[in-house]
Amino acid sequence: MAQPITILVGTMTGTAELVADEVKGVLEGSGRKVEILAMDHLDAGVFARPGLFLVCTSTYGQGDVPDNAQAFLSDLKQRRPDLGHVRYGVIGLGDSTYFDTYCNGGRQFDELLAALGALRIGERLDHNASGPDLPEDAGAAWAADWLGLLDAAEQAAA
Ligand SMILES: Cc1cc2nc3c(=O)[nH]c(=O)nc-3n(C[C@H](O)[C@H](O)[C@H](O)COP(=O)(O)O)c2cc1C
Repeated sequence: MAQPITILVGTMTGTAELVADEVKGVLEGSGRKVEILAMDHLDAGVFARPGLFLVCTSTYGQGDVPDNAQAFLSDLKQRRPDLGHVRYGVIGLGDSTYFDTYCNGGRQFDELLAALGALRIGERLDHNASGPDLPEDAGAAWAADWLGLLDAAEQAAA
């Protein structure tokens, strides 16, 4: 049975939201139920939702998560819930001209979720705004590959 997917979006100027919309379309094409939640006002309790999670966030400041993701990230760091039941993916947006902090927003979530016991499915997508690919195209291609991994994991578990 294909699990539903919740996409959690951290964004400053809307690019991550655009990517999430595109990714949602790809994932829904496989018949999955997909919901996008902006990270504003979220807390650690969101991980009680059934199904899989996809974090889609950009990077700002000095390798920080966007403003709308800060309270959510802090809550996770403070409460440190056991996320052993959580399976997730990460799309991080950044720009390689920020050499030292490239895509650090997505990496921060990735490392924290893993430290809390969650298991990432597939590799993280780190999208480079200075690279040749549009973020929504890179996200859609990544999502198609991710779907294959989800299907394989669910079949193995069945
Ligand atoms: C003021 C500013 C600071 C940024 N800082 C970083 C950074 O530290 N590391 C990084 O990889 N990208 C950084 N970026 C690039 C953004 O993360 C990237 O352009 C992203 O696609 C924006 O997505 P959003 O519209 O969803 O916020 C920065 C961009 C701006 C405008």
